[in-house]
Amino acid sequence: METSTQICVGVTFNILSNDSILGKGFYQLTQSKVLKSGEFHFPVFVDEVVNSLVINPDGIYLDATVGGGGHSKAILQRLSPKGRVIGIDLDDEALEYAKQGLREFQNQVILRKGNFKFLREILEAEGIDSVDGVLFDLGVSSHQLDTDYRGFSYLRDGPLDMRMNREQKKGAFHVVNSYSFSELKRIFLQYGEERHAAKIARAIIHARTRQQIDSTLKLAEVIRSCIPASYVNKTLSRIFQAIRIEVNEELTNLRLALEEAVEVLKPAGRLVVISYHSLEDRIVKIFFRENSKIPTSLTGLPIDEYDSKSNQQRIRLKLITKKPITPSDEQKRYNIRIRSAKMRICERL
Ligand SMILES: C[S@@+](CC[C@H](N)C(=O)[O-])C[C@H]1O[C@@H](n2cnc3c(N)ncnc32)[C@H](O)[C@@H]1O
Repeated sequence: METSTQICVGVTFNILSNDSILGKGFYQLTQSKVLKSGEFHFPVFVDEVVNSLVINPDGIYLDATVGGGGHSKAILQRLSPKGRVIGIDLDDEALEYAKQGLREFQNQVILRKGNFKFLREILEAEGIDSVDGVLFDLGVSSHQLDTDYRGFSYLRDGPLDMRMNREQKKGAFHVVNSYSFSELKRIFLQYGEERHAAKIARAIIHARTRQQIDSTLKLAEVIRSCIPASYVNKTLSRIFQAIRIEVNEELTNLRLALEEAVEVLKPAGRLVVISYHSLEDRIVKIFFRENSKIPTSLTGLPIDEYDSKSNQQRIRLKLITKKPITPSDEQKRYNIRIRSAKMRICERL
């Protein structure tokens, strides 16, 4: 097995170039662009985001997942000196990094710690009641995934944590060590779409009667011990994803936040969402569809009623992308995280 040493987010570590141990994605990462020291996250679809979001250079834009500030910076570069960006994140480390990276725009940026499900309240606290565009770049940042003490990755030894907001009480340790068999099975099925859900839940319950499962690698070992070797990498990422979604209530937050985003958008304002797995994308797709057409329960009505003002008012969005934007081969080569990304755009009516 070959090893290579690379610098990632200020930390030197060894990357094992063995597909079967680290998974294909990680192996490819060693061959494509890698984070250099001090880099936080490679934003995806940057041009696509800026081109579709910035409809008014003097406008106000909400980056609901500011992360390392990559998208925010690109948006600010497109704005006039009058334009502004409000950046929200749950993660203090992200906000600190974004603050440094966006220093040159300090008079045009407001960064706030908060959950995007409360985005209206966060904007109101800044005296803003409507915006020209809202961006959600969902999921985790490269920094969160690549930092061992955050406990997001089955490839790195760290505490079972996975909290985006490190002030939150519930972390992955609680889920793994306290949830019942049926609760674990439910989240593995619902959030991981994992067919070995019951087997893995049972193995966790069994393992933790002997000793608490308190690290990412111990959890990975329990999972490895009960499933066929050929499924290991996919299963590990599904189970870790499921626990992460549960810890951070990601799907509930997304549903609530989309509703809030539509409420704060000005007419012709744009809503852009980038998702990284089918559960998120399904929520976005259905939300966009439901808000861009008359509810199916009403479409059987006579034309007068069908066209009545109140029914028309239910339509709040116009779809800009009928099908999601997906990465080109070139983009996939350049940025490993983009492989599963889907971007959907709509416009406020
Ligand atoms: C993919 S990263 C965003 C990267 C960013 N676009 C950039 O250019 O660096 C997703 C970010 O969303 C944040 N996040 C996830 N759920 C959130 C929520 N409910 N409220 C606020 N931020 C959230 C995460 O902490 C993470 O920093």
